[in-house]
Amino acid sequence: RPRVLSGIQPTADSFHFGNYLGALRQWVALQEEHEPFFFVADLHAITVEQDPKVLRERTLRAAAQLLAMGVDPDRAAVFVQSHVPEHAQLSWVLQCLTGFGEARRMTQFKDKSAKGGEGAASVGLFTYPVLQAADILLYRPHFVPVGEDQRQHLELTRDLAGRFNHRYKKTFRLPEPYILEATAKIGDLQDPTSKMSKSASSPAGIVEMLDEPRVSAKKIRSAVTDSGSEVRFDAAEKPGVSNLLTIYAALTGAPVADLEEQYAGHGYGDLKRDLAEVVVEFVTPFRDRTLALMEDRSHLDAVLAAGAVRAREVASRTLGDVYDRVGFTRPA
Ligand code: TYM
Repeated sequence: RPRVLSGIQPTADSFHFGNYLGALRQWVALQEEHEPFFFVADLHAITVEQDPKVLRERTLRAAAQLLAMGVDPDRAAVFVQSHVPEHAQLSWVLQCLTGFGEARRMTQFKDKSAKGGEGAASVGLFTYPVLQAADILLYRPHFVPVGEDQRQHLELTRDLAGRFNHRYKKTFRLPEPYILEATAKIGDLQDPTSKMSKSASSPAGIVEMLDEPRVSAKKIRSAVTDSGSEVRFDAAEKPGVSNLLTIYAALTGAPVADLEEQYAGHGYGDLKRDLAEVVVEFVTPFRDRTLALMEDRSHLDAVLAAGAVRAREVASRTLGDVYDRVGFTRPA
C-alpha cells in the first residue's frame, strides 16, 4: 500500500477548521487505502518560544484530537515527533545540503520573522522547512496531505531528496503533495481573503474545533459577508460567502452548486444560521470524544508509544542508509 505522512504543530489549545478541512480530514480519508504515519510536530513548535507546561498539555491534546476525528491507531502510526530522534538526526544531514539562499526564500520564515525582525527570529525558525523535509523523507511516503500553505515546503523537500539521490545514491522517494483544491485555503471568518491561522487570525476569525459549540455557532453567524445579497460562489467578488459555502459543502458533502440552488432567493442570514447548526452538530461529538480521550491518559500514552515504535522501525532504517551513504562510520 502507498504510504502517506503528515504532521501538525501543537501550538494552540485546539485545532481549527482550516487545519481540519485543509488537511486532517484527508488524513482520515487516506488511512483506508494507504499506510499512514501521522505525528504531532513538537520539535517544530519550539521554533518560537513555548511554555514547557503548555507545550506538554497541547501535545497530548493534539494527539487526542487526531483520534477523536477518526485517525485509527490500528491503521496509522500516530506519534510525537520528539519520540523519534531520527527526525532531528536526518535534519542535520539535510541542512548540510541546503543552500543558505534556498532557505531564505521560504515565505513562512519571511512572514513569521517579519514581526520582530529577522534578528529576533531563531535559527530553528530559519531551518524549520529542512526539519520538515526530514520528517517526510524518513518515511519515503508517496503522498503528504496538507493545506496550500505547505506547498513550498513540499517543493523544498523534493529538491533536497533529488539532490541527495543524485549526489550519493537513490535513497529517497520524491513525495507528492496531496492538496485538495476546494479546501486548500480556508479563510479567516473576519478577513476571508486571508487564511484562517492560529498565529494571525483574531479569535472571531477562527472556528476552533474545541470551542464551546455555541461559541462556534456565534462566530459563524457573525462572519463577514459581502456586498450584494445573492448566495453565490465567487471567490473574487464574494470571498466571505464563498468561504462559508466551502465550509458548508465540506461538512455536509453537498456540492456547492446544490447549496447555491438551495439558497436561491434567501439571504446571507439564512445561510449563516443553517451553517451554524451544521457546525454545532459537527463539533459537539468531536469535542466530547476529545475530552473523553484526555481523561484516559494511559490509553493515549499507549497509542503514542506504539506509534513511536512503528515509526522508528521505518525511520531508523532510512537514517541508517543515509549515514552509510554520506560516509559515516558505525560504532564498532
Ligand atoms: P500547521 O500545524 O500550521 O497546520 C496543520 C495543517 O493544517 C493546514 N492548514 C490549513 N489548510 C487550509 N486552510 C487553512 N486556513 C489552514 N491552516 C492550516 C496546513 O497546511 C497543515 O497541513 N509545517 C507544518 C507541520 C509539519 C508537517 C511536517 C506537515 C511539520 N512537519 C511534515 C507535513 C509533513 C505546519 O506548520 O502545519
